[in-house]
Amino acid sequence: MAEFTLPANSRVMKGKTFKAPAGATRIKKFKVYRYDPDSGENPRVDIYEIDLDQCGPMVLDALIKIKNEIDSTLTFRRSCREGVCGSCAMNIDGTNTLACIKDIADIRGDAAIYPLPHMGVIKDLVPDLTQAYAQYTSIKPWLQADTPAPPNKERLQSPDERAELDGLWECVLCFSCSTSCPSYWWNSDRYLGPAALLQAYRWIADSRDEYTGERLDDLEDPFRLYRCHTIMNCTNTCPKGLNPAKAIGKIKQKMVERR
Ligand code: SF4
Ligand code: FES
Repeated sequence: MAEFTLPANSRVMKGKTFKAPAGATRIKKFKVYRYDPDSGENPRVDIYEIDLDQCGPMVLDALIKIKNEIDSTLTFRRSCREGVCGSCAMNIDGTNTLACIKDIADIRGDAAIYPLPHMGVIKDLVPDLTQAYAQYTSIKPWLQADTPAPPNKERLQSPDERAELDGLWECVLCFSCSTSCPSYWWNSDRYLGPAALLQAYRWIADSRDEYTGERLDDLEDPFRLYRCHTIMNCTNTCPKGLNPAKAIGKIKQKMVERR
């Protein structure tokens, strides 16, 4: 197997290698980004050799095995282990995705694991999502209506109205899309990014919501919405198979229709 090398000018240093136990036959190397801002040291990449015969099938299984059995200092987020909480998003094999639904068998060669790109790193694989959540909050992700709900009943929708939310409600807010988007990389202080915009459209498209005009007013801005240049990285990377670019396109269409 080829020796692992980093570019000569890389600020990421080569770290430790944790060898597989003697007798392991199906070894895979996991090259994992490590960074502890409190240490004062540059980031490094540690290599963990895992015996796949002693590991579950998903990348998250390997990370949990590393943390439980090899190196308890490795830090990452996870909760549900089935692709519904969005917390285990990271860059695996060059693509933003969810570690718990990324099959190790789909990774050819060594597995490179980094935090979501272009975000501050709190520690190791944990990105700082403070700004992303503030942007999500800014789109008011809740039902706004002045008409009181019918007594003792939910606000009802027709099947067609409900179907308008398909492809939107499934979003798990992992931010894989936003952090794959060059427009978001360069303007994340002002551009909302695909995750927040897909969520914005989820409420614009909701027949029960009565604040569509205000929601569109809030997005009518050269940066908040219109920094989307339809690069499509968001849609290509979404681990839930959603299409944030299409949702953004629908918001732009609504903007035109109301003029
Ligand atoms: S649209 Fe997809 S990639 Fe973006 S936050 Fe939602 S689930 Fe994650
Ligand atoms: S642990 Fe919940 S989405 Fe991966």
